[in-house]
Amino acid sequence: MHSRNEQRPVIVIGGGGHAKVLVSTLRAMGRTVIAAFDDDPSRHGNELLGVEIVGSISEAELRYPGIDAVIGIGAPHVRRMLAERLPFNWITVVHPHAYVDPTVVLHDGVVVMAGAVVQPETVLGQHCIINTSASVDHDGHIGEYVNISPGVHLSGNVTVGDAATIGIGASVLQGITIGANTVVGGGAAVIRDLPSDVVAVGCPAKVIRTIEARAA
Ligand SMILES: CC(C)(COP(=O)(O)OP(=O)(O)OC[C@H]1O[C@@H](n2cnc3c(N)ncnc32)[C@H](O)[C@@H]1OP(=O)(O)O)[C@@H](O)C(=O)NCCC(=O)NCCS
Repeated sequence: MHSRNEQRPVIVIGGGGHAKVLVSTLRAMGRTVIAAFDDDPSRHGNELLGVEIVGSISEAELRYPGIDAVIGIGAPHVRRMLAERLPFNWITVVHPHAYVDPTVVLHDGVVVMAGAVVQPETVLGQHCIINTSASVDHDGHIGEYVNISPGVHLSGNVTVGDAATIGIGASVLQGITIGANTVVGGGAAVIRDLPSDVVAVGCPAKVIRTIEARAA
């Protein structure tokens, strides 16, 4: 039996690969995805696992204000811009084959994909992504719009600042803090704190450049 909420239709914002995995995840949760929307006109009319990419995001605003919705776009700054602007009910998505400890705090719009593990007393900020087979160990603090890529492992007590991206397969030692907007490269091993607004790669992870602040 699904609760009343689970019977409400859902739309997905975005029409790429991440959106496709979201459609699959929502179905695994028993949700019905009725449409996807993307601002790339070349995607209109295409399907994500049988769900049509109907039109632009502004069309979704007109057709479905207040509907249950999920952002299916990975880039943190795009997620932030859409979440703040669009008039939808942002739902929390957790694949039934993820493990999320009951003490974890999940804010609106969080997405946890299949195979992910989130351990006790972690906080997942709004619209963050814990992607396929990633793990966040105990007492993690994951900021808003953070993108934790597939196969990332965060040890206990790791803090990831708002809108940071941790690249595929990276590992982060216990107690580390990674600053806001920072990008950690795929396969990196983070053994020391990283500041905000940098790109860091390698084992051990080293800063290779800074990121220009984005206009609000
Ligand atoms: C870190 C990253 C963002 C850097 O991208 P970029 O700014 O375009 O950097 P470049 O490709 O110009 O590379 C700059 C230098 O860093 C090195 N580098 C880039 N990514 C690296 C990585 N992951 N590990 C080690 N070195 C890396 C490059 O070899 C290059 O070195 P060089 O100057 O000696 O030739 C990107 O390479 C990356 O790892 N992204 C993660 C992608 C991901 O996780 N995708 C999952 C999606 S679900």
